[in-house]
Amino acid sequence: MRRKVIAGNWKMNMLPGEAIEMINELTPLVKDTKNEVILCVPYTDLFYALLTAQNTNIKIGAQNMHFEESGAYTGEVSGKMLKSINVEYVIIGHSERRQYFAETDETVNKKIKAAFKYDLKPIVCVGETLEQREAGKANEIITKQTELALEGLSNEQVENTIIAYEPIWAIGTGKTATSEDANNSIKEIRNKISEIYGEETASKVIIQYGGSVKSSNAKELFNMSDIDGGLVGGASLKAEEFSKIVNYDK
Ligand code: 13P
Repeated sequence: MRRKVIAGNWKMNMLPGEAIEMINELTPLVKDTKNEVILCVPYTDLFYALLTAQNTNIKIGAQNMHFEESGAYTGEVSGKMLKSINVEYVIIGHSERRQYFAETDETVNKKIKAAFKYDLKPIVCVGETLEQREAGKANEIITKQTELALEGLSNEQVENTIIAYEPIWAIGTGKTATSEDANNSIKEIRNKISEIYGEETASKVIIQYGGSVKSSNAKELFNMSDIDGGLVGGASLKAEEFSKIVNYDK
């Protein structure tokens, strides 16, 4: 049985004081869960979040990283830097980065390899636009994104990659994919991984759903056969609401 992984993506929200307050409020609410709890916070919150979450079951991640180790890349942060302060996870290839910051399948692949080099666990996002979905191309797009993202990784690395299937039309819109649709898309991703890396590896990969997940729909989504938890945006900003998503099985 795969574990369930519930990750919050705060995006460009929360000042350090708000981050500390949120994590302190969240800690007792999720302390008894057997699900994995992750918060991916802005760079400026990382250090505070790591200190506040010490000795809790809340793990901390970043939302992006550069694939080079160091150098003349003004404004960027490397995997080595993240690891140096004990960050554990990093989101790679979020659709907002693909859309607004020229992230490509190639840079996503380089970043995943760099993440493993520094012992960071990547949460890799794939997902189709509404236009692609309406043109009947969703499966082709998400399986191709998955294949290119994972290119050149070992089976062990693939098994340690978390994939987040986030249909772009469902992000921040209040529109959620139906649980059946989300489950089917995730099965397509798993089948592609199975084709390339074999069934055993594919059966171990955590594949989350993301896009307007909230406490009212988490249970239905996360109870589906292939949905291994969620990557949660807006609903991860408030401790109580996020704790209900984490505790969807209580
Ligand atoms: P929302 O949950 O706000 O729709 O955002 C989803 C997302 O992009 C998480 O990475």
